[in-house]
Amino acid sequence: MHFMNSDMLPAMKDVVKVGGMDFVPYIRREQIMARVKELASQITDEYRDRCPLVLCVLNGAFAFASDLFRAIDTDAEISFLRLKSYEGTGSTGTVKQMLPLSENIEGRDVIVVEDIVDTGRTIHKLVEDLKTKNPSSVRIATLLYKPEALICDVCPDYVGFEIPKKFIIGYGLDLDGLARNLPDIYVLASETC
Ligand code: IMP
Ligand code: MG
Repeated sequence: MHFMNSDMLPAMKDVVKVGGMDFVPYIRREQIMARVKELASQITDEYRDRCPLVLCVLNGAFAFASDLFRAIDTDAEISFLRLKSYEGTGSTGTVKQMLPLSENIEGRDVIVVEDIVDTGRTIHKLVEDLKTKNPSSVRIATLLYKPEALICDVCPDYVGFEIPKKFIIGYGLDLDGLARNLPDIYVLASETC
């Protein structure tokens, strides 16, 4: 087995260029992991003996859902669906379903896992759709939440970080498909002040 202490982790890059734009460090991987563990321990306590179905909203939530799910210390299942609402650095206003849910969720305790709640359109539409399938409960876990951008009636139950209305990338979040593999979260440099 290969062990690595934190001193050996590669340094977070100061500036990354994606799609011709500069992004600067915003939330470090250590802060993300610490917060993910706190959320997972809250979920563990609240869902013990309920075997929740963790529903990862692809593509953006894959990193968060993977870390969160593995830190949940009670029986739980995971499944995936894929929605798309963003192009470039802005919301298109429509939510397209690219990969539908295959599970029967009737009577299940569902936890929808999102990377970020921005306008809230995606999660609002998804939760309304899920409720027509008679789950026992539906809660929302999101790593990031931009309350200033919210235009729908949505209130996430588990929030990693509340952030201002700025465009960010990394740890699953993309700019036109790129930057999802950055281990830390970065913000558009022109939006730092
Ligand atoms: P909403 O429907 O406006 O809440 O947007 C939700 C989706 O838009 C998220 O799941 C992300 O995929 C994407 N999104 C929103 N804000 C950002 C951002 O700052 N960076 C990258 N993607 C974002
Ligand atoms: Mg998303």
